Formats: sequence, structure tokens, C-alpha cells
Amino acid sequence: MSIQTEQIQKLVERRSRARLGGGQKRIDAQHAKGKMTARERIALLLDEGSFEEYDMFVQHRCTNFGMDAQHTDGDGVVTGCGTIDGRLVYVFAQDFTVSGGSLSKTMSEKICKVMDMALRVGAPLIGLNDSGGARIQEGIDALAGYAEIFERNILASGVIPQISGIFGPCAGGAVYSPALTDFTLMVKDTSYMFLTGPAVVKSVTGEEVSQEDLGGASVHASRSGVAHFAAPSEEEGIATLKTLLSYLPQNNMETSPVRPTSDPASRVDDALNDIVPDSPNKAYDMYGVIRSIVDDGDFFEVHQAFAKNIIVGFAHLGGRSVGIVANQPAELAGVLDIGASRKAARFVRFCDAFNIPLVTLVDVPGFLPGTQQEYGAIITNGAKLLYAYGEATVPKVTVTLRKGYGGAHIVMSCKQLRGDVNYAWPSAEIAVMGADGAVNVLYAKEIKADPEHAREIFDEKKKEYVRLFSNPYQAAQKGYIDDIIEPRNTRFRIIRALEQLAGKRAVLPEKKHDNLPL
Ligand code: HXC
Repeated sequence: MSIQTEQIQKLVERRSRARLGGGQKRIDAQHAKGKMTARERIALLLDEGSFEEYDMFVQHRCTNFGMDAQHTDGDGVVTGCGTIDGRLVYVFAQDFTVSGGSLSKTMSEKICKVMDMALRVGAPLIGLNDSGGARIQEGIDALAGYAEIFERNILASGVIPQISGIFGPCAGGAVYSPALTDFTLMVKDTSYMFLTGPAVVKSVTGEEVSQEDLGGASVHASRSGVAHFAAPSEEEGIATLKTLLSYLPQNNMETSPVRPTSDPASRVDDALNDIVPDSPNKAYDMYGVIRSIVDDGDFFEVHQAFAKNIIVGFAHLGGRSVGIVANQPAELAGVLDIGASRKAARFVRFCDAFNIPLVTLVDVPGFLPGTQQEYGAIITNGAKLLYAYGEATVPKVTVTLRKGYGGAHIVMSCKQLRGDVNYAWPSAEIAVMGADGAVNVLYAKEIKADPEHAREIFDEKKKEYVRLFSNPYQAAQKGYIDDIIEPRNTRFRIIRALEQLAGKRAVLPEKKHDNLPL
């Protein structure tokens, strides 16, 4: 055997040893927990044969606690690049079979390398987390490593899409990298995220709570909103990440890929002419409207289980990727509260950063009143959504279906927040408030003074208010909306507006950065 052949054989052996990470026993343990290994996840995520691995032979440099005798090629994370549907992405996947995927200084250097590459070439970054946190033996070096990752997350924010998959533990300060990225997906039952675990919670506050109830996928997808997606399995989680990516551009200088469709732009839907109930207090399902309008009825929802009174997600219209924001009358009457404002604001800002036009469907009775909301700073949180729409420079098309009352009307991408094209259905009621509330405020004294005729006074004044304000014509007369459209034509009208707006240019005043009300 020639020396070169021997050298090549050594490389092949070393590679296959590195591919085993922490060894077969730990791989089996990972499988026994219903989890895949880092390499299996990458294989499922990327196009077959496209993975180019970096730093396979990197080893940690720690000498504390006998670590100098424990070295594994690759050191607890698999990094590199590859393609998804032919499009370049950079990835890192923490390998739980090596020191529980805990973060060493060298591991952070590997992660930072792919982050730098992704930013340099303008490609999305996907991080698959499965880690016991800072490598305890490395002390402060591991903390420094985290900070270096966070700094890159911040610099890459708004430049390339950053997506986090949580496929196992993610605790302590480690949660902040996913929190800094654009989207976080968790896997039900096998992943969790919290700053402090159940044992610390009990010792500090006395509260007893399970790992799942404290930071499981369902909790973060429905209550905290930390997770945008909760997948029932790793396979479905990875499929969701791929679908998400198909709506996004590679970076902030590009637009999303066009998805050809056989769904005609001119398709009308007569059912929309009957979807709004006669009674303003009756609900209907906004999902029906969204699916009727978008290409092939295909809507990819973000934050499905969190703040359900507002719906956000991606779809295609005439082949173009769009972000949809819609009040949901079937949930809390579609009211805006703290959760809904935060959810929609973050989504609007993402779309704006990545050149994805916004389509807003409005049916909002106002902001949710009450001490809980006021103490929780609905003022500041509502302002986030207002701010997000007001600063967004992407094409913005808004359709008011029914209620557009008060401050909530303004917030939901109204004309004066630089809405580009604002339509209303004939059922729209664009006013300061609903008829009942308005009459009660304006005629409280008259009603109180004449209790015998209170009902008649109320009904008469309400009729007058409805005639004057509970329609879209006041707004149309003043040019606050651009046209009143037949509901059945909504798809066609939005697509045509988006075509007109494709060349839109809008700039913001020069500044160091904005001061979004956080
Ligand atoms: C070094 C670690 C480790 C860590 C796990 N391991 N976490 N090694 N540093 N942080 C090792 C274990 O020793 C074990 O090694 C292997 O990984 C698998 O761990 P197990 O405990 O056997 O697995 P499991 O039972 O599934 O439990 C997983 C776990 C648990 C819940 C994550 O390991 C755990 O509680 N780890 C410590 C978590 C933690 O407190 N981390 C520090 C948080 S502070 P062997 O050789 O036996 O296979 C922090 C600060 C970040 O992260 C600040 C950022 C700003």
C-alpha cells in the first residue's frame, strides 16, 4: 500500500469515527429518547448529497477536570452548508452525544464560522439546538462563546433569515440565541426552553412545576409566544422549517422565489359576498377568507396557537410571496390585545426587513379594555404594531372587511400609516367606535333623564349613527380608502394592486437606528 493510499485510508477512518460523535452507545440512547442525532437531522433537512461539512476535526482545548483525556472530533456540533430545494443555507446542529451538546469555546467558534459565512454570502442560517448549555468544565470560556454567537445573531438580524429549531434541551442563557433569531420551532415532548429549570424555580419561589409545563413546546407556542411553531415530531419539525424557507428570500437584498401557480389571478369567489353575518356581533372565520383569496388556498401560518385573535402567516398571491395579517373575529371578536400586538408587530417587521409585501385583512372592534391589559402595558405593546406598520416600506395592501374602529383602525395599516392601497368591502364600518358604545357616550344624559323612553332614544340615535358612520362611504368620500370593492373580487384586486406596487420605492429618514417602543 502506498503512503498516499494509507493517508487516504486514515482520513476515511477518521471521518467515519467523527461521524459517530460520542459513540454508538450514546447514539442508541438518543434514539431511545425518540430523538434523532445531529447528523440525521441535517441529512433530513438538506438536499441529498448537498452537505458540505466544516471543522469536522476541531477539538476542544479544555484541560480542566480531566477533559484533556476526552477528545471527540467535531466537538459536539456539526456545522457546514448545503441546499434546501436547491437554495444555499448554512447550518449548525448540536450533537447531544458529545458532552450533552454543551457549548465549549471551540464549539462556539465553529458556530460563529458558519454564521460569518452565511452573513458574508447572504444565505439563511438554520441552527438545530440540542444542548445541556454552557460546558461546565470550561467555565467562563463557554460564556464568552455564547456572547460571540449572540453578537452575530444581532448583526445578522434583518440581513439574512435566521431560524432556530429546538430539538432537545435549551436552557439558561442558551435560550437567547433562538430568541434573537427570526423564527423558533420546538418539538413537542422532547424539547424545552427555560432560563431556570424546575429545581431552581422550586428553591427560589417554592413553585412546583414540571419541565414540560415550564418550558415545553406547547407552553411556548401558545402562552409565551417564544416558539412560532410546535411540531409533533422531529420529522414534521424539519419539514416545517423547509416550508418556511420556501416563502423567504435568501437575504434582505433579494425577493422571495416566485412560485408558479395554475390558480388564475382573476378567480372570483361568490361565497365571499355572503361571508359577513348580518349582525355585527356575530363571528365568522377569517381563515375562510384567507384561503379563498390566496393561491391554491395554501396558507402557511406562523404562531398558530398564540394570540389567536390575530392571524399571521405566509402565502402566495399571483405567485408572489406575501405576509398576511388578519384579525380573527371568531376569537375574542378579533380584538387587539398585548399578545396580538406583539405577535403581529414582530411579523410585520420581519416581512418588511425581507421585502415581503404585506396584505392586511381588517375586522377589529378595538383594543381590549381592562386593568390586566393596561398594567401589562397595552399602550407600549399596541404602539409596537403601530410602529411596525408605520415604518414598513414594503408594498402594503389593506382590506377592511367589517369593523375598523378607533385606534385599532389606525394601527391595522390604515392609509395614513403609509398604506399603499386600502380597500373596503361594502360591509365595512370605519368609525371612531361601534354604534352602541357611541350612543351610550353621546346620549348618556338624555337616556338617564328619561328612563321611560330610554330604549326609544337609544334606538333612534343608534339608527342615525349607523346611517352616518357604520359604512365605508365616509372614509371613501374623504379618500381614506381608495375603493370599495365587491368581496368576491378580493383576490383579483389584491393581486393587481401588488403588481402595481412591485416597483415601490420608499425611504426612511436617516438615523442610527429607530427606537421602537420595547
Ligand atoms: C458538560 C454536560 C452538560 C454541561 C450535560 N452534560 N450537560 N457536560 N456541561 N452543561 C453531559 C453529561 O455529563 C453526560 O455526559 C451527557 O452530557 C448527557 O447528559 P445526561 O445528564 O446523561 O443526559 P440527560 O439525562 O438527558 O439530561 C440532560 C440535561 C442534563 C437535562 C441537559 O444533562 C443537565 O441538567 N445538564 C446540565 C444543565 C446545566 O445546568 N447547564 C448549564 C446551564 S448554565 P456523559 O459523559 O455521561 O455522557 C448556562 C449558562 C449559559 O448554560 C449562559 C449563556 C449566556
